[in-house]
Amino acid sequence: MTANQTAAVIVLAAGGGTRMKSKALPKVLHPICGRSLVGHAVAAAQELEPEQLVVVIGHMRELVQAHLAEHFPAARTAVQEEQNGTGHAVRIALASLSADGVELDGTVVVTTGDAPLLTGDTLAALVRAHHEQGNGVTVLTAVVPDATGYGRILRDAEGAVAAIVEHKDATDGQRAISEINSGVFAFDAKLLAHGLSQLRTDNVQGEEYLTDTLEILRTAGHRVGAVVADDHRDIAGINDRVQLAQARRMLNDRLLERAMREGVTVVDPASTWIDVQVSYEPDAVVLPGTQLQGATHLGEGCQVGPNTTLTDTTVGAGAQVSNTTADRAEIGELAQVGPYAYLRPGAKLARKAKAGTYVEIKNSELGEGAKVPHLSYIGDATIGEGTNIGAASVTVNYDGVNKHRTVIGAHCRTGSDNMFIAPVTVGDGAYTAAGSVITNDVPAGSLGVARAQQRNINGWVERKRPGSSSAAAAAAAGEAQ
Ligand code: UD1
Ligand code: CA
Repeated sequence: MTANQTAAVIVLAAGGGTRMKSKALPKVLHPICGRSLVGHAVAAAQELEPEQLVVVIGHMRELVQAHLAEHFPAARTAVQEEQNGTGHAVRIALASLSADGVELDGTVVVTTGDAPLLTGDTLAALVRAHHEQGNGVTVLTAVVPDATGYGRILRDAEGAVAAIVEHKDATDGQRAISEINSGVFAFDAKLLAHGLSQLRTDNVQGEEYLTDTLEILRTAGHRVGAVVADDHRDIAGINDRVQLAQARRMLNDRLLERAMREGVTVVDPASTWIDVQVSYEPDAVVLPGTQLQGATHLGEGCQVGPNTTLTDTTVGAGAQVSNTTADRAEIGELAQVGPYAYLRPGAKLARKAKAGTYVEIKNSELGEGAKVPHLSYIGDATIGEGTNIGAASVTVNYDGVNKHRTVIGAHCRTGSDNMFIAPVTVGDGAYTAAGSVITNDVPAGSLGVARAQQRNINGWVERKRPGSSSAAAAAAAGEAQ
């Protein structure tokens, strides 16, 4: 371990999050911008490349544990059965980190699972200052317009940090202080252990406050420092759904700003939503009302939107995607999608392919330049290059029990209103007649016709609908002849 490396990061995430009023999810699993609150905290912590990372869990811990195991397998967990305060939580984490009786050495960062705007850069700046100043503990603070609810930073006459007092325990004079505790600290591991051993619970909440360790360490003669965040919004903690929405807005703005600086045009940032894992190339254009979710990728010069939601979808260079919902789809270069298309998992459009208006495509490949322009459902199908599917066609893939494949070759022209009863194959260059129900394979180059012969019953309207406007029109047409 190098001198500046962080021995461990402890993420506090055991609290109930009562003010979220959530029955289904613990606070730290609520998502913003494609990641849970605790996920944002863990991702920032991982940028420090700590030797160990432990998340303290408690409230609804099975859900939090399963979530971490799926998305952050490198993060360990420590269970806090009862939420007796932040100091108590850190003590449990420290015990799990010092297993086998080997006491932890070096720098320990404590952070919280409910501050999703906190970046790895801010954590790194805190650790750097902690080392440079030779502190026993360094707290990340911020000056905020409304300090209600936060712990206040008490400084002495020289401006050095003396203690933190919780809002509920503060005097009116202390409550007037606008510098607050972010809940994020860098500690010397041994001093942290010592400070925690001295904690008492004689406060309004009857809890062990981690914040009390600062005064304990200072009184014992150790250096206590502070780093003031450049932007107080970066340390915003989430306690309710109003703050959740505000944090989502801020993180979204930050992510869109980065995209714009890298050459993406975002026409209306206010109505565009982007997840942390979205990637893009220059000259992509995003029109209003668009949501880019998961690991969606925008290729160079593509145009997405308006009113489009893409999840884990790849958009090729120069492709156009309008008024579309797509989930786990691959849209090739120069392809055209929408308006009003629905691409479901496994929809793969090759270069210059088209899925047009009111078209749904699932688990199907469209070859280069293949087109499904209007009102169709294509499921479990392979469509060859240069083929055109007539309007209002369906690959009938489901017999009520099993799914079957439709294979349509290259350069086919299928008629409008076709049903392809899968499994069925249409050979290269074949045509099918409009209104056909294709149950048998159509050989390459053939015309498949599968519809009833038309029959006209002459004079039916005048006999069966006498006196109607139709009958009058028919009579007039007869006289005109
Ligand atoms: C805490 C700080 C306060 C600071 C604020 C910043 C203390 C005593 N107070 O107050 O100075 O301004 O954060 O947001 O530390 N947690 C546990 N186990 C517990 C209690 C809390 O894991 O027993 C976790 C919570 O899940 C949360 C974090 O610790 O992620 C902070 O707890 P919370 O109850 O929100 O503390 P605050 O009252 O906001
Ligand atoms: Ca809080």
